[in-house]
This record gives sequence, structure tokens and C-alpha cells, in this order.
Amino acid sequence: MKIDVVTVFPEYLQPLDLSLIGRARERGMIDLTVHDLRRWTHDVHHSVDGAPAGGGAGMVMKPQPWGECFDELIPEAPTGAAGPAKPRLLVTSPAGRPFTQAMAHELAAEPWLMFACGRYEGIDQRVVDYAADRMEVTEVSIGDYVLFGGEVAVLAIIEAVTRLVPGVLGNAASLDDESHTAGVLEAPAYTRPAEWRGYEVPPVLLSGDHGKVDRWRREQALLRTARARPDLLERLDPGSLDKRDRLL
Ligand code: ADE
Repeated sequence: MKIDVVTVFPEYLQPLDLSLIGRARERGMIDLTVHDLRRWTHDVHHSVDGAPAGGGAGMVMKPQPWGECFDELIPEAPTGAAGPAKPRLLVTSPAGRPFTQAMAHELAAEPWLMFACGRYEGIDQRVVDYAADRMEVTEVSIGDYVLFGGEVAVLAIIEAVTRLVPGVLGNAASLDDESHTAGVLEAPAYTRPAEWRGYEVPPVLLSGDHGKVDRWRREQALLRTARARPDLLERLDPGSLDKRDRLL
């Protein structure tokens, strides 16, 4: 998978050199490049923003550097060229579509993602409109709160997406039962020792009876979801319920 990130703070994306994403990059599974938007500015101050049209607080990212960035990073592909001609563009914004595990799966199937990190009061809307006439564009939010900019959102999205790319995660089985995959939260997890400071690992987990362990985990998952995220239970597909699931 090819990933490009365009930002005015490339240093913010340094965590992408670490851990499992760093390893996936070293192994060539993820081809990720972070670009400094100021490369496409021409004035001495490398300015990327301007006052909002119509007045108001803050600054808006101006279209010119974004346009030249797209021209360079997404050249018109000659017919018959190998690889995807256009990326799927993700523009981070608190006004975007909510990012979910379902969207992470959708994005993990794309051959090329490009992230445009918004800063200040956002990017001039014409940048999004221009891009949307040429490629698939999704404005995306990681939650109902406002960050200083999109960089942290991009870190979260790239982490959620790349771990779904085949081969990136060592143990793919751990993807099956995790929170949000089946519409419910994951059951609590325990490890050794069996007793710690007077707190015990639930005995069923040490019983060796896989059927009982599975049933216990399912009940705990439903209980946890009912307590922390009742909204998820309301949206649960009735077809995903087992006849032994008691509605809590
Ligand atoms: N930029 C600022 N806040 C954001 C959010 N919640 N999600 C995505 N990008 C953002």
C-alpha cells in the first residue's frame, strides 16, 4: 500500500517510523512518504494560510500550495501505466465523516491513500472540490472534538488502517475478536499470574474448556458493551446474536 501524507508539521508524523508500522515500512509492505506542504510555497515566509473570506477568527489554508502539491504528487498517468493512477484522498477535519473500524477496513483495501492534514480553521473548500472532481475524496473526523490540526488524526487513521493490511500484524487471528469488529466491545483480557494483589484471573479462563471460555468472553463482551456503549447494542444486527446471548 502506498501512503502519502501532506502536512505543515512533518515532525508530527515521526511516530510512523516506530513499532509495527516502522517494521512494515522496512519490509516494503507500506510505502509511506511524509511531505512538507511548504515545499510548494514561493514567498520568503513560506506562508500557507490567509484570513477567512467573509471575516472571522483564525486563518484558512490557501489553495495554491495544495494545488501545486497535487500536480506534483498525482501526475496525469500515461495510459497503460502500472499502479493506481489516483490516490483516495482523505482530508482530516472535525467536520468530516466519522472514522470507524468499518472505514478502516474500506481504506485497508485501497492501493494508494493520500492524507491532507488540515490546520488552523481548515483548508479552503475549493481544494476539496477541485480534488473531488478528479479522485475519490473523503473528509474524515476521528471524533466529536477539535484538535489543533489533522496530524494526530492521521496518525490514528494510519495505525488503524495499516494493521488491517495483510502481513502487517504478526498474528492476524487477533483481528477477529477485537472491539468493533463484530459490533461489540472485546471481553477483558488477563495474563499470568493467576492471582495478583488479591485479584484473580476468572477461573473459567484457566479451566482449559474452550467452549466455556468462548461463552464467558461473549457474555463479558455484551456486558461491557451494555455498560460502556449502549448505543452499539442498539445498532447490533440481530443476526449476529447467538441464541444463547441473553439480552442484558
Ligand atoms: N482536525 C481537528 N480536529 C479534528 C478531528 N476531530 N478529526 C480529524 N481532524 C481534525
